Amino acid sequence: MQMVNLKINGIEVEVPKDSTILQAAEKAGVHIPVLCHDARLNPFGACRVCLVEAVGNPRLMTACTTPAAPDMEILTNTEKLQKIRKTVMELLLINHPLECPVCDKGGECTLQDLTYETGLTNVRFDAEPNNTEVDHTNPFIERDIDRCVLCGRCVRICDEVVNIQAISFVNRGTETMIGTAFDQPWNCEFCGQCISVCPVGSLNNRVYLFKNRPWNLESVDSVCGLCSCGCYIKLDHEGNEVFRMNEAPEEGANHGYLCAKGRFGFEFINSMERETECRIRKNGDFETVDFEQALDTVSEKLGAIKSEYGSDAIGVLVSPRLTNEEAFLAQKFAREVIGTTNVYSLEPTTSLPEATYEDVENSDCVVTLNIDVTESNPILGLAVRKAARMNDAGLYVYYPSETALKRVATEMHTGTPDAVYAAMDELVAGKTKAAEALKGAENPVVVYSPYNTADLYYAQELKKAYPSLKLVAARSKNNSQGVLDMGAKNGFGPGLKETERGVNLRKGLENQSVKALICLGENVAVRTGWSEIERAYSHLELFMVTDPFMSETAKRGNVYIPVATYAEKNGSFTNLEGRVQEVQKAVDKGVCTDSDVIAALSAKLGKELTADVDEIREMIRKENPLYKDVDFNGGLVKYPYAIKGEFEKETVAAGEGSFYLYPAALRLHSGSYTRWSHDLAKVYGDAKLIINDKDAEAAGIESGNEVAVKAGDVIRVFAAEVDKNMTKGCVSLPEDYADTADLFTKGRVLKVSIEKSG
Ligand code: SF4
Ligand code: SF4
Ligand code: SF4
Ligand code: FES
Repeated sequence: MQMVNLKINGIEVEVPKDSTILQAAEKAGVHIPVLCHDARLNPFGACRVCLVEAVGNPRLMTACTTPAAPDMEILTNTEKLQKIRKTVMELLLINHPLECPVCDKGGECTLQDLTYETGLTNVRFDAEPNNTEVDHTNPFIERDIDRCVLCGRCVRICDEVVNIQAISFVNRGTETMIGTAFDQPWNCEFCGQCISVCPVGSLNNRVYLFKNRPWNLESVDSVCGLCSCGCYIKLDHEGNEVFRMNEAPEEGANHGYLCAKGRFGFEFINSMERETECRIRKNGDFETVDFEQALDTVSEKLGAIKSEYGSDAIGVLVSPRLTNEEAFLAQKFAREVIGTTNVYSLEPTTSLPEATYEDVENSDCVVTLNIDVTESNPILGLAVRKAARMNDAGLYVYYPSETALKRVATEMHTGTPDAVYAAMDELVAGKTKAAEALKGAENPVVVYSPYNTADLYYAQELKKAYPSLKLVAARSKNNSQGVLDMGAKNGFGPGLKETERGVNLRKGLENQSVKALICLGENVAVRTGWSEIERAYSHLELFMVTDPFMSETAKRGNVYIPVATYAEKNGSFTNLEGRVQEVQKAVDKGVCTDSDVIAALSAKLGKELTADVDEIREMIRKENPLYKDVDFNGGLVKYPYAIKGEFEKETVAAGEGSFYLYPAALRLHSGSYTRWSHDLAKVYGDAKLIINDKDAEAAGIESGNEVAVKAGDVIRVFAAEVDKNMTKGCVSLPEDYADTADLFTKGRVLKVSIEKSG
């Protein structure tokens, strides 16, 4: 790499050739104030706060945009510069209302800090205040134009990173402001990235607005507990209440980016609907009991079932909401305390991580197979967008309807699922432009969903055809990968070592050989369907469910124990890259963790299992070869394979109707937790059936009408939403809802009939 040498305030520094003066100063340890600059965005040079002097050059230059040149001598804090910087600040403050005491950014505003830093006490210029009305039309963002300093950070992040261009500079000259095109409603992903970069109180987080002041808050570094992207977050809390999820650009693989549900959907942690008391069912109804009584009931029942039917009549089902340490403990509990190999996870072991976000960002060809990645895994979606926008990667998208990637995709293959799979057949056969691109690429990446055999088949075929490509299995839950790695899976021990197989859960429930199930945090009703619960689980003599809420599954259990969310425990999660990251406790809601439940239950059954995170981690290192040397604070696990197994190419489940129903991901929800967040529910509450406008017209359906969806014996009613972007002949419903789960149990895509019902 070519380097340049220069001096900053007399300090010699060497930097790569394309560095800016600001980057050189950072390297030299010299502070230059900035306002419009953000290291993640292209240089802009709007605010002039970073002006510096080069010896021998009468013109001042902006450090954030000027390249460092050989032998430059830069001065950053001369008397001349101090004077000019003060004037720059005065100009910035002309229109800025001095309402810091009531501004939500007070205490964390760059303009406030710079005013203090420059020692400015008086503004010499006068201007009419704008007094523009504050905009509340976005459910999550308050926009107060009067406070805007036109730094353009929000516009740039929305364009360069999120690629939505929901906001831009509108008007000209002194009338310039940040707004939406033609003052239309925000066409927005609600990611809040713009709020996070706004250096003043112009764009504010409405969920946090007027709730607290930054100096009252304590911040705990942790990992988002909602999807497998594994975003590094700062959990800002006062006492035992979480006030906001903040970003940390310099930490984590997500570069400080969060999605709508991670940033705004945390309310479920503080929810008044959280349960704090254990219940046991007596004569059909739940009765409140204390923790000891609940565990006594469970241990007695387990003892009786074990002596009557043997250990293999007991199973332990582990949710990917659990930390690695909890999942490890759960499988130990099953295998060593109960003495059964019946330990289950609903996650498939067929796909393992092969690529990082960095691999995706730096790829020159990305193919996405049957997944709406910006919705299902928003931060992985940002990496895909970055590859296409910043790296000019070819982007080939296969999905039934148009997705947000349309703006940057080289080719979109949309159509009915059968047509999409036919296009994927051509790709595998090497006949298409996308196939040529994959062949010619240096770092090709394929993103797919590992939950459907047909998609696994195509991912595997592509891997066979193009062995150099890296597969990204876009898993759904926060610790989908970790629970598998920890051995909480039938037939797989810690480190994914193949072990003795227990009873198949579905079969064991159906033939009623499984009599007791300890269900740790898994909401089966949402992941596999209501009717399955009603039919297969109703015979259980013991169905113990832990969950922070009285979930759809917990309601069907006979013992319920409320447990902590991710904000209330220590441990680690492993994300879709195979990155292990520390989860840290921020608040205490007066309930125990799943580890506490397992440890207490073990003690009652006569065996000690520790709930201490450090001790469990020691055991993991000893027993799990994949985690032997992994740093639990950001380390990457190296996996033995990317995809393994025999997969059927069956694409569409048989059905009788004329519409293809496919499950759509929702950026605003990812399972049971987020549906307890009322702020998210204001934007998207109950599940809606999306239908194409022409199909809707032919069936006499309008948005808001109730429509019955029939698939075999299952009939469910949903409100319709007419959308011209939906492919003709297709309808979609979101995953992660109890009333949609039943419709997807027979296969990813179903043929259904629909009928207006109200
Ligand atoms: S929330 Fe996200 S999509 Fe919406 S304007 Fe801000 S950056 Fe753009
Ligand atoms: S709204 Fe904030 S981020 Fe956007 S231009 Fe104005 S001051 Fe900058
Ligand atoms: S839900 Fe997923 S993408 Fe969104 S902030 Fe959490 S981990 Fe990141
Ligand atoms: S920070 Fe350099 S011009 Fe704004």
